[in-house]
Amino acid sequence: MQVARLSVWQGDITTLSVDAIVNAANESLLGGGGVDGAIHRAAGPELLACCRDLNGCPTGEARITPGFRLPSRWIIHTVGPVWHGALRNESALLAACYRACLALAIQNNVRSIAFPAISCGVYGFPAESAARIAVAECKAALALHAGLEKILLVAFDAKMAAILTATLFAFDDTV
Ligand code: APR
Repeated sequence: MQVARLSVWQGDITTLSVDAIVNAANESLLGGGGVDGAIHRAAGPELLACCRDLNGCPTGEARITPGFRLPSRWIIHTVGPVWHGALRNESALLAACYRACLALAIQNNVRSIAFPAISCGVYGFPAESAARIAVAECKAALALHAGLEKILLVAFDAKMAAILTATLFAFDDTV
């Protein structure tokens, strides 16, 4: 039986010993609340100093930094869209975030990567449609890149874990 290369995990992404964790940042890359705040707190002050040199990141793109004091070697910072009721191409921008993060992961020989629910907190993106985008983009990358051994979709609470799990299984049925 093939080991699932895409799975859901519930907890604090900063504790994961994977090659890369993804940060749901803002365009300044200078930290914030939510998972951004947790990652900066856990990674330590060197992360902020490193991010200052990146001069920000446009929505839909991604940047990579070391993980510093985190157990993960890399942090891939991406900026998800703020939800405006599907009036500003939000779904395409969110899909672009996943693709940009996965492209950077592959370029840096990352084999295991964990994603938070990008844009599903402060940025207000509806969780169900965000989960469908996350699963679709991750499955597409796994099909193309054998070097990607493990993708974890991280939920911080049980509600998001249930949504991601249901989406993952619904997707598997359609293969
Ligand atoms: N581990 C995993 N997931 C987490 C953690 C954590 N430690 N903390 C929060 N989350 C989850 C939230 O529950 C949510 O489901 O991450 C998801 C994304 O929520 P936010 O962190 O609010 O990110 P986002 O909605 O993309 O908004 C980004 O918030 O923190 C600021 O600087 C950030 O301006 C940016 C904006």
